[in-house]
Amino acid sequence: MTVDKAGSPLTASENIVPDTRHGVILYVEDVNLSFDGFKALNNLNLYINDGELRCLIGANGAGKTTLMDVITGKIRPDSGKVNFGQKVDLLQLDESEIARAGIGRKFQKPTVFEELSVFENIELSLKGDKGIWTTLFHKLSGEQKDRIGEILHTIGLITECYYPAGRLSHGQKQWLEIGMLLAAEPRVLLVDEPVAGMTGQETERTAELLTSLAGEHSVVVVEHDMAFVRSIARKVSVLHQGSVLAEGSMAEIQANPDVIRVYLGEEQG
Ligand SMILES: Nc1ncnc2c1ncn2[C@@H]1O[C@H](COP(=O)(O)OP(=O)(O)OP(=O)(O)O)[C@@H](O)[C@H]1O
Ligand SMILES: [Mg+2]
Repeated sequence: MTVDKAGSPLTASENIVPDTRHGVILYVEDVNLSFDGFKALNNLNLYINDGELRCLIGANGAGKTTLMDVITGKIRPDSGKVNFGQKVDLLQLDESEIARAGIGRKFQKPTVFEELSVFENIELSLKGDKGIWTTLFHKLSGEQKDRIGEILHTIGLITECYYPAGRLSHGQKQWLEIGMLLAAEPRVLLVDEPVAGMTGQETERTAELLTSLAGEHSVVVVEHDMAFVRSIARKVSVLHQGSVLAEGSMAEIQANPDVIRVYLGEEQG
């Protein structure tokens, strides 16, 4: 475990090591959640394997974002089980504990500090919630600098590293935010509609980035852009009215009559 000079952990993800002996890092079982009688999640079952890249698709209102809200502790389900690895019950942890346990979430709207440089934005996430000024005046160790360099390389923003984040394009801001998540060394990354508003080239680069993160991380991607999903998908889960309607390869999903009827059909037609 990496410890800084003050003795506090650099990242919290070491605190909880999920038991993934069965290859599964996220267990979502029989999860139900109603909003005023409307079943947003309906006996939902989903298993994410350690290191996999999973795409989650489904029509507007299918429950995709709500599922991420439940996994990250933003909303509690009415019933069901949500485990990190076999043994860690996420329903017993609050939102910040879940984040520190190693589940990172990327929201659609980037929340970078526009006046700070790309480098400083990552520096802030690396050092945690100590406040901007304390953080920026606290000298970085060589190891921390190396780690920031690695992240900048991963997200493809080495050239832009001293630019104020406000000067980045929309796509670059999204990558920076992924970089900020990576600073916490999450085991699981949940990414909601990452390519919305991106140019074609940015979308392609995002596909490469997310693909490269799988393996070391488990990545769950929600996206409506079917060309993008096709370009990254291994296994796809289709949500419909709060349940998993179908699961499989993109080819299997596209040939599934139920999926065509409720989702792809309307998209194609
Ligand atoms: N806080 C809330 N209060 C009441 N209803 C909600 C709340 N959050 C979500 N819903 C409802 O739950 C259903 C699922 O919403 P959710 O945002 O999870 O869908 P989604 O699959 O992410 O859709 P989209 O593709 O449009 O983002 C929708 O009918 C939505 O209106
Ligand atoms: Mg959504």
